[in-house]
Amino acid sequence: MVLLSGVNAASATAATPDPLLRVKGVTLEYATRERVVRAAHRINLDVHAGDRFVLLGPSGCGKSTLLKAIAGFIRPTEGQILLDDRPVTGPGADRIVVFQEFDQLPPWKTVLGNVMFPLLASRRLPRAEAKERARDSIAKVGLSGFEDSFPHQLSGGMKQRVAIARALAMKPRILLMDEPFAALDALTRRKMQEELLQLWDEVRFTLIFVTHSIEEALVVGNRTALLSPRPGRVRAEINCHAWDLHSLGGRDFQAAASRIHNLLFDTPDPEDAQDNRAVAAE
Ligand SMILES: Nc1ncnc2c1ncn2[C@@H]1O[C@H](COP(=O)(O)OP(=O)(O)O)[C@@H](O)[C@H]1O
Ligand SMILES: [Mg+2]
Repeated sequence: MVLLSGVNAASATAATPDPLLRVKGVTLEYATRERVVRAAHRINLDVHAGDRFVLLGPSGCGKSTLLKAIAGFIRPTEGQILLDDRPVTGPGADRIVVFQEFDQLPPWKTVLGNVMFPLLASRRLPRAEAKERARDSIAKVGLSGFEDSFPHQLSGGMKQRVAIARALAMKPRILLMDEPFAALDALTRRKMQEELLQLWDEVRFTLIFVTHSIEEALVVGNRTALLSPRPGRVRAEINCHAWDLHSLGGRDFQAAASRIHNLLFDTPDPEDAQDNRAVAAE
């Protein structure tokens, strides 16, 4: 090992880069007054820089809980979450979350004020630079000209663009999105998926994206972890970099979607069988 030249050592590292984020044997629980709810069970995931990593599973399977744990809002009861080999012990500006709700923007701040706010609050940048960064980020999501608008003057899709601009302006190591387009109408949702992929092409950020839509997972993700219901476990990991919005409706796409559906619902672990039936019947 000592004889390895610097060049060889470097190329060996390049061939198998360490994951940016490691979720190792993570169990997540909520203690309520009556009982302990196990939301996720011994989850293992590796997310690499530049991944568009999707967490896919039915409602209630622990996706949001897992995302909140990665964001540092919830501590695992078992296992570890490592970012750059360092344990995540709390929230940080290196992981920013975009939520589903349109009301995640303070209504008394303009678009520009909203996007600048975390830059100023975290003392990342002085005001003039924060303003410049915010304008740039607003332009990237196609909202130039709306800097002085207030959230109530914007459509749902535009509010989500502001939330994305605000997150990107912070230049996080990982952008976390929790069903960000779920409350949008179908056409706007498709448009937002397209824009997100364009934005990724341009900026190449690392994304962890939560959805319960198989179609959305295939379109948005390059890799997808399928989570089984209650408590969430990783049932399979799927490579989905081959699919994009142009694949929608195609025969191969449909076949992939139905394979995933079967993986999620038709071949349950015996322990999950009852929950699966309940979810499939919903
Ligand atoms: N604050 C909480 N207290 C107790 N149980 C919770 C809490 N939040 C979520 N849960 C439970 O944890 C499980 C996973 O929830 P969640 O992560 O929100 O699922 P998903 O995002 O996949 O729909 C569910 O059974 C839910 O009822
Ligand atoms: Mg959720």
